[in-house]
Amino acid sequence: MTGSTIGRIAVLGAGVMGTGIATVAVGRGVPVVLVDVDQATLGKATASIRQQTRLGRLMGSFDAAVADGELTTTTLVGAIAGAAAVIESVTEKADLKAMVLTAATAVVTPGTVVVSNTSAIPIDELAEHCARPEDVVGIHFMNPPYLIRTVELIRGPRSSDAAIAAAEALLARLGQTPVRVGDGPGFVINRVLQRSINEAARIVQDGVATPEAVDAAFTGCLGHRTGPLATADLIGLDNVVDSLHVLLERTGDEGYRPCELLLAKVKAGEFGRKTRRGFFEHEGAL
Ligand SMILES: NC(=O)c1ccc[n+]([C@@H]2O[C@H](COP(=O)([O-])OP(=O)(O)OC[C@H]3O[C@@H](n4cnc5c(N)ncnc54)[C@H](O)[C@@H]3O)[C@@H](O)[C@H]2O)c1
Repeated sequence: MTGSTIGRIAVLGAGVMGTGIATVAVGRGVPVVLVDVDQATLGKATASIRQQTRLGRLMGSFDAAVADGELTTTTLVGAIAGAAAVIESVTEKADLKAMVLTAATAVVTPGTVVVSNTSAIPIDELAEHCARPEDVVGIHFMNPPYLIRTVELIRGPRSSDAAIAAAEALLARLGQTPVRVGDGPGFVINRVLQRSINEAARIVQDGVATPEAVDAAFTGCLGHRTGPLATADLIGLDNVVDSLHVLLERTGDEGYRPCELLLAKVKAGEFGRKTRRGFFEHEGAL
């Protein structure tokens, strides 16, 4: 799989990250087949990919001279047969990912690299459910990937050299730079970040500081580009809670137990930018 010759790639899951990853591919001229469970989600995702691709061109992420890759959407996982690479980005639930990966790896050609964009589930645990565990690697894309072009590339204990090489070629074609890391719950970023978000939410819950004050301390005092609670709203508080559960279940570390305020916000449907309200209000957000 070399730079310009990559064929159609499959993206499984058309949520926040699936649409972001598909945007990067489409914007760089790579054809994509995007899979989700219903047409309404796929329709919304198509509109979002078109909008993000336009924005990406305006912001210089994509070359204006390169035509968009063809975007095909489907609810049928069988439609990914023949894909040059598979990127799984469904909801952060281990049993759901296991089901989707089992179905996907049954239809792709042996030797096709199978990537999971999981936030926190160990790659080897997911590889267990795949037809060929050696074909599986992790790539933890950032949100949105057309603006943040560095990813964690996770090598599981059974990932083959060929799968890692294919993942690196895919990332080069997508204009993304890998940081190579090992396997384990949360890898590098989410092992640290999810715990920080939970603690920041607990600070608000305890009445020690407002969300604005927490984030102002991180941006002003530490020079972070965004504070932990704005980051949580960008990720999606539902995904934060799912990732914390994954980390808690696999480490037994109580620091990852989602605090009451996070659970209450998710119960109230306040997921952050995607519902326009989380720790902050997001007028006009996607
Ligand atoms: N949100 C982030 O900032 C972020 C960053 C990096 C990685 N991730 C990871 O990416 C993955 C997706 O997260 P998200 O934020 O896009 O979540 P999301 O809730 O926005 O999207 C998940 C999508 O998966 C779809 N889905 C569920 N079951 C499916 C199935 N059987 N077949 C096909 N599609 C199915 C859902 O319908 C939904 O559209 C998760 O593993 C998450 O941890 C998220």
